[in-house]
Amino acid sequence: MIIRNLDISECARLAEIDPSFETSQIYQVTKSKPAEPYIERVECDSVQFVMPPIFGSTSPSAALRYEDEFDRYDLFLVAEEDDRIIGAVCSTPLTQEASYPPGCVVMPREYLLAAFAVDREKRGQKVGAALLDRVKDHCKEIGCSFISLWAGFDYVPAVDFYISQGFEISGWLEPPGCRFDQCRIYLTWHP
Ligand SMILES: CC(C)(COP(=O)(O)OP(=O)(O)OC[C@H]1O[C@@H](n2cnc3c(N)ncnc32)[C@H](O)[C@@H]1OP(=O)(O)O)[C@@H](O)C(=O)NCCC(=O)NCCS
Repeated sequence: MIIRNLDISECARLAEIDPSFETSQIYQVTKSKPAEPYIERVECDSVQFVMPPIFGSTSPSAALRYEDEFDRYDLFLVAEEDDRIIGAVCSTPLTQEASYPPGCVVMPREYLLAAFAVDREKRGQKVGAALLDRVKDHCKEIGCSFISLWAGFDYVPAVDFYISQGFEISGWLEPPGCRFDQCRIYLTWHP
């Protein structure tokens, strides 16, 4: 298995990952496949509070424009085996610096893990851990203070994975009027 950067021209190749509901995040990123389950989840008006700033817009349809926002990610990695993509992760520093006068250094700098999936058949074989190790190294290299992510309640099994990789539950988000399954668990990892 090798881990390497994904080129935007290869986005369609992410469809090689098992097209299950669990990996629909990756399809949202790439538009390789419509992400109906995601649309269902964002039927609540106040769900914009769930979305981190990286999404650029708060409208549900904006989630499907990830491909256009590809270059917002400073890291888009894939795991490849026998010329087949078996896992992917994308991440980026949050740019809260934009709220401060130019040149300000803002600490702590948060590094957001935006989407993460491993092919169903390849789970439990340390592919996810290998991808995450690269994200951790990158986070440190670029001087970010910690990694964060929002796990949906429909991704609760992944929380155990993150905890096994040194993450901790730092909070959760419960937007007003949203259903239980639209809430988010906030996980962080500190070097
Ligand atoms: C979460 C996910 C990326 C993990 O990838 P993976 O390649 O299966 O994970 P690994 O094999 O590297 O697992 C590393 C460790 O986490 C543990 N782990 C992984 N998935 C787990 C789970 N569902 N429950 C409990 N522990 C889990 C493994 O047991 C392993 O622990 P060990 O080192 O003590 O043996 C993968 O299961 C996945 O794609 N899930 C569906 C999509 C998803 O939930 N994405 C995250 C959204 S926030």
